[in-house]
Amino acid sequence: MDIQFVNLHKQYRPLKDEILSGIEHVLDGMHLFLGENVQQLETEFAHYCGAAHGIGVSDGTAALNIILRAMDIGPGDEVITVSHTFFATAEAIILTGAKPVFVDIDPATYLMDVSQVEAKITSRTKAILPVHLYGQTVDMDPLLDIAKRHGLQVIEDACQAHGAEYKGRKAGTLGDAAGFSFYYSKNLGAYGEGGFISTNNDELAVKMRKIRDHGSGVRYHHDLVGVNGRLDEIQAVVLRAKLPHLAAWNENRRAHARQYNELLKGSPVVIPTECFENTPVYHLYVISAPKRDELQAFLKERGISTGIHYPIPIHLQNAMEFLGCKQGDLPVTEHVVSQILSLPMYAELTDDEIKYVVDSIKMFYE
Ligand SMILES: Cc1ncc(COP(=O)(O)O)c(C=O)c1O
Repeated sequence: MDIQFVNLHKQYRPLKDEILSGIEHVLDGMHLFLGENVQQLETEFAHYCGAAHGIGVSDGTAALNIILRAMDIGPGDEVITVSHTFFATAEAIILTGAKPVFVDIDPATYLMDVSQVEAKITSRTKAILPVHLYGQTVDMDPLLDIAKRHGLQVIEDACQAHGAEYKGRKAGTLGDAAGFSFYYSKNLGAYGEGGFISTNNDELAVKMRKIRDHGSGVRYHHDLVGVNGRLDEIQAVVLRAKLPHLAAWNENRRAHARQYNELLKGSPVVIPTECFENTPVYHLYVISAPKRDELQAFLKERGISTGIHYPIPIHLQNAMEFLGCKQGDLPVTEHVVSQILSLPMYAELTDDEIKYVVDSIKMFYE
């Protein structure tokens, strides 16, 4: 059996006609950027999240960077985040001139260990940037409480968490603003690059909308120095065609996770920990596995593609040497990255495929 990590064809086929006719309509009109599809998507995805404002942007990294810029975060400032995330989380902070300050993760959920945040706050700290990694939200209430007491902004990295819920509230509405990625493999993915910002803050929304388009609200009138961070119409067509299916796709992913959990019982691997007040969306299904690298090679021989998200924590990346971090600074993060393995996960995965993956894992350990 050949089991891909993500299978985009299976999702595309039933939507093909709708997407192609939408793209044709855009090309007939030749209104390629920030047109009716982007505007509609902004309303529709903000509504899906339950946020007052939505801003379509070029990618998830730009989303986070634009939020930070709009909050006037820059040189001399510090932003508290995690090292166990995709590189772009820290990159977006560094692109403003500010410094990322890393806290360790919870050993069970692999998410920001909120109990360590307060100790990292200094007079330079301006914001906290929790990452809802793998599609599960960080424990936000205690984090928001810390932020409130210290007068800090909270920016959600919701790039892997489209539709994830915390105590019935959706990711994208839990902090002051949130950044989403529509990278093609995300739960809601474009057929190119795309991103999104959600917020309930009216003033911030106006500023972020300008920053996305070179600091301009009216063509050739620039009130701020911004970025080229616009979302294009063709990607908005794709995303609008997919959005009505997102809730059902997320439901499928949760069902697949339950099936994996059930079948993996009794094996030596550790299944993902779900916090009881969360409804995760399983962007990734990540196990912790003894002899991880050997297991990954064995699964590959059996036709199963897997991933490691992420093999090197950000604080130990070559590019981050200037921060002066060292091995041993974040012991949980450093341990976890040697054990984690992401199994195939997408909405259209079948029961037989999941069973084949689990049978193969069991076969490896026997
Ligand atoms: C956690 C996280 N943050 C940020 C990003 C950056 O998003 P993009 O690739 O759309 O710039 C990603 C996407 O891969 C991500 O997974």
